[in-house]
Amino acid sequence: MNTTSALTVRRATTRDIDQMLSIINEYARQGLMLPRTKISVLENLQSFLVAYDQDKVVGVAGLHILWDDLAEIRSLAISESAKGLGVGKRLVLSLVDECKNLGVKRVLALTYQKEFFEKCGFYVVAKETLPQKVWKDCINCSKLPCCDEIAMIRESYTE
Ligand SMILES: CC(C)(COP(=O)(O)OP(=O)(O)OC[C@H]1O[C@@H](n2cnc3c(N)ncnc32)[C@H](O)[C@@H]1OP(=O)(O)O)[C@@H](O)C(=O)NCCC(=O)NCCS
Repeated sequence: MNTTSALTVRRATTRDIDQMLSIINEYARQGLMLPRTKISVLENLQSFLVAYDQDKVVGVAGLHILWDDLAEIRSLAISESAKGLGVGKRLVLSLVDECKNLGVKRVLALTYQKEFFEKCGFYVVAKETLPQKVWKDCINCSKLPCCDEIAMIRESYTE
């Protein structure tokens, strides 16, 4: 892929699942993000966007609504061949736009990629300031006893 090729961002479909899982779970094996199962992606398919280059999925990102004013970006992953070309930022900003359209004011990322999210307009917040609902799914996470991810927020719109 190069910067001049035709990249589209669209909602994921069942036809994308295998490629989505392959990108996500390769990074999960490296300990960079949490793994996803086929059923967990299928059950949340409507919340996922994919970036497409010709017939190939090169990026994936999901949105999980936590409360009326807070949604979390989950499973953001760009294939090795497409990294550094603006695909990640485009997916994140598309999800921020989606939050704005949904009336969800704040967007959360729990991440190791601080500089990338800063470039997308996010800022670091203390985890203690986040509502308890954020931690609901952490009970099933292998990182639970010593989670070292950074919590970052950005507003999807200002009043
Ligand atoms: C982190 C990740 C999503 C970034 O996606 P990407 O498409 O490579 O990033 P982009 O090309 O859109 O970069 C946008 C900006 O962030 C910067 N950036 C991207 N990755 C960066 C990094 N690791 N460190 C510092 N800056 C980074 C880029 O230089 C660019 O800056 P610019 O706007 O000034 O040009 C991608 O590298 C990835 O999938 N990593 C592995 C999985 C992962 O860690 N996912 C995040 C889980 S929360």
